[in-house]
Amino acid sequence: MKDYPRIVVAPPGPKAREIVARQDRWASTSYPKEYPLVIARGERAMVEDVDGNRYLDFMAGIAVAATGYGHPTVVRAIQEAAGRFLHICGSDFYFEGFAALCERLAKLAPGPSQKRVFLANSGTEAVEGAIKLARHATGRPGLIAFLGAFHGRTYGGLSLTASKVVQRAGFAPFLPEVHHVPYGYRYRCDYCRGEPVCTMRCVTVIEDELFAKQVDPQSVAAIFVEPIQGEGGYVVPPPGYLKALRELCDRHGILLVCDEVQSGIGRTGRMFACEYEGIEPDVVLVAKGLGSGMPIGAIIAKQSIMKWRPGAHGSTFGGNPVCCAAALATLDVVERELLPNVAKLGERLLSGTRRLQEKYAAIGDVRGRGLMIGVEFVKDRATREPAPEIPHKLVERAFRKGLLLLGAGKSTLRLAPPLVVDEEDVDTALRIIDECLDELD
Ligand SMILES: Cc1ncc(COP(=O)(O)O)c(C=O)c1O
Repeated sequence: MKDYPRIVVAPPGPKAREIVARQDRWASTSYPKEYPLVIARGERAMVEDVDGNRYLDFMAGIAVAATGYGHPTVVRAIQEAAGRFLHICGSDFYFEGFAALCERLAKLAPGPSQKRVFLANSGTEAVEGAIKLARHATGRPGLIAFLGAFHGRTYGGLSLTASKVVQRAGFAPFLPEVHHVPYGYRYRCDYCRGEPVCTMRCVTVIEDELFAKQVDPQSVAAIFVEPIQGEGGYVVPPPGYLKALRELCDRHGILLVCDEVQSGIGRTGRMFACEYEGIEPDVVLVAKGLGSGMPIGAIIAKQSIMKWRPGAHGSTFGGNPVCCAAALATLDVVERELLPNVAKLGERLLSGTRRLQEKYAAIGDVRGRGLMIGVEFVKDRATREPAPEIPHKLVERAFRKGLLLLGAGKSTLRLAPPLVVDEEDVDTALRIIDECLDELD
């Protein structure tokens, strides 16, 4: 038996309340804030708060803590790197960790083409750089992204984002020449309603409607796609979707950019989620899990595309030596220890959530790959009307019982634990979710 979850004082306890009040007083009002968790320390998939409560983490700090909390290999690599030098600026000078990480990511990215790598500080920065790279490489201004997409909050990233209106409200004008089209959201697809199998109309409509009536495909630099939509609701597109997008891009000389910021680095049981479709994107973006929590992101692009001149793009902090060390250690751990674990436990979690779906009519859809699973709630299975209050209440209730969860999209619960969870953790999470749903019923 593990010593977590263990609630010793109803959260937020007295110490937590004090910190919450202080942070709420001084920090920007824009932080969304999910629930009053005040972390003191963590170990593997356990998070302890300042009042001594211990939680089982099934959100990994928004799908970041890939190797869990305090993985010894990662911590040692960080400590050693920090003891050597904290900064030099990899954009202008050289060090081994930077070279090694670029080489490692270039060789890991899917497909046979030679790759090059740009190191950034975050997912958004990787997206931002990829927008510039796509325009620079093609000489075209246009960008296509998907409804429900989340690509970050800087002006480029935000212009591609179409996840929640609060993220865009008040910030217009956005980047011009950005076009949003429906994602391959099988459960809520207007095109395939009533069809027994997916017609892939959500892809063909790009040519039949957008390119035929509104946008010259020759003016489009890139399509940005999440292989599994993250913030939009952990939406797994139908089989063949990325392949169809790849073919469409090839017909028109458009670059395919796979934003794997949330789905990459082993989360789905493969290093990159797009590997399930056997495609080679022109550009792959990673961040989140890459540094196990240290801020690092990367643009991995075909060498034939990443040919911009010295000075065209750079970053003071991108590829910080401590972050590079964390990323290299994370990749070691993910490759050697975690990938088989993710596949196995992902199956256990998916079948467990499917059993919950049989028990609770409010669960309309269960989908996912590896440890990236979405549970979508509805008011009525026939109409599929979203029930956003259910995941909201469920997340709140689970927190009080010592399970950390997060919602995604309009009415979906996302399950994205650290990749180090074991069978007992998965079963505990399922049991608590079951208990909460039973209480809400
Ligand atoms: C798919 C995707 N792209 C980009 C981002 C932005 O990353 P960051 O918050 O590191 O800037 C996110 C963050 O949730 C994401 O899920």
